[in-house]
Amino acid sequence: MIETPPSLTTVPVDLGPKAYPVRIGPGALGLLGEEILARGFRPGVRVLVVTNPDVDGPYGDRACRSLAQAGFRSERLVLEAGEDQKTPATVSRIHQAAYDLQLERGSLIVALGGGVVGDMAGFAAATWLRGIAVVQVPTTLLAMVDAAIGGKTGVNHPGGKNLIGAFHQPSLVLVDPCTLETLPPRELQAGMAEVIKYGVIADPVLFEALEGHGSLAGLGDLGPALLDRILRRSATAKARVVAADEREGSLRAILNYGHTLGHVVETLTGYRRYLHGEAVAIGMVAAGILSRELGLWTAAEEARQRQLIARTGLPLEAPPLEAEAVRECLLRDKKVRDGRVRFVLPTRIGAVELRDDVPLEAALSALMQTTPARS
Ligand code: NAD
Ligand code: GLY
Repeated sequence: MIETPPSLTTVPVDLGPKAYPVRIGPGALGLLGEEILARGFRPGVRVLVVTNPDVDGPYGDRACRSLAQAGFRSERLVLEAGEDQKTPATVSRIHQAAYDLQLERGSLIVALGGGVVGDMAGFAAATWLRGIAVVQVPTTLLAMVDAAIGGKTGVNHPGGKNLIGAFHQPSLVLVDPCTLETLPPRELQAGMAEVIKYGVIADPVLFEALEGHGSLAGLGDLGPALLDRILRRSATAKARVVAADEREGSLRAILNYGHTLGHVVETLTGYRRYLHGEAVAIGMVAAGILSRELGLWTAAEEARQRQLIARTGLPLEAPPLEAEAVRECLLRDKKVRDGRVRFVLPTRIGAVELRDDVPLEAALSALMQTTPARS
C-alpha cells in the first residue's frame, strides 16, 4: 500500500524579513525534517532538540528520525517537566548542550513540547551566539494556539513569571494535532481557555463554531474537524495581532484578555491550585462582568461567554480572596502605568477595547462576584 503524505495547511505570520509559517496537520511531526529543509536549512546542519520526558517518550524518536532522514545531525536534551523548571539555570543547561554540540550561527534548536519547553528553548536560541534559529513544535493545545506563535520567549524570576526574556521569532511552527492524544485532559481544557479568548477578542465565527458544538470538554468531544478549525483560526488570530504589533506597543495587549484578573487568581493561590488557562477562564468571566457593569457589552453577550466557558469544564468562579490582597496584586501587575491598571474589555463577541480608566474597585467587585460565597 502506498501511504499518502499528510497534507498541511499554512497560516502565515507576516513579519517581513522575519516572516514564517505555522504549518498544521495530523502527522506533521513525521515531516519535521522536510519542513525544516523547506525553510532553507541545508542537510548537515546541527540540530539540538529540546524536550521533556512526557513528550520525548511518545514523540522524541519520531522527531529525530524525521530529522535524520532529511540529513540533519541531531542530539536530544531531555529536561525535567514543569513550570518550576522555567529558570535561568535550565537555560544554562541548554546553552551547555549547545556548546557541547558546537552549535554555530547556522545551527538550529527545535523546541518539542509545551509552552515551558518552547519558552526556554526559544530563549536559549535567542541568546546563544546572540541568536540562532529556533523551530517550535508545540505539543499542548495552549502552546499550539498561543505560546509557540509570536516570538515571546523567556523564563521566570523569583520575583515574577516571565520577567527574563526576549522577542525571538521562530523560523517555523509545526503543529501536529495527533500529539494531543497523550495530553492530560485537564491540560487540554486549559488550552481551550485561550481558544475562547480568540473568539471573544477577534473571531466571532470561531466563537459561534464552538457554541454550535456539543460538549467541548475532551479531545473526543471536539473531534478532528473542529480541532482543525480551532487550530487554524486561533493561529490566524494570533498571527494577525503579532504581525500588526510584534513588540506589544499597543494592539498585542488584547491577547492578555482575561489575564489581568486571572493573574491575580494565580498569584493569590500560589500558582499551585490552577493551571494558567483555568485562571484565564476565571479572569474572562470577571472581565465579562466588569464590561457589562461598565455598559460596554450586554448581559446576553456576557452570558454567552460564561456558557461557552462552562461547556469546556473550565472553572467560572474565583476562590474566596481577600479584597486588600487583590488590590495590592492588581497594582503590582507588569502592565500598570502611573497607578492605572490596563484592562482588556469586550464590547461585543469578537471585539475588545483596551481601557486604563477602569476604577480599581469596579474590577475588584467583578472578580468578587465570581466567587461562590458572593455570587
Ligand atoms: P507545559 O509546557 O508545562 O505543559 C503542560 C504539561 O503537559 C507538562 O507536564 C508537559 O510535560 C506535558 N505535555 C506537553 N505536551 C504533552 C503531550 N503531547 N502529551 C503528554 N504530556 C504533554 O504547559 P503549557 O500550558 O503548554 O505552557 C505553559 C507555559 O507557556 C507557561 O510557562 C507560560 O508562561 C507559557 N506561555 C508562553 C506564551 C508565549 O507567548 N511565549 C504564551 C502563553 C503561555
Ligand atoms: N500570549 C500573549 C502574547 O503572545 O502576546
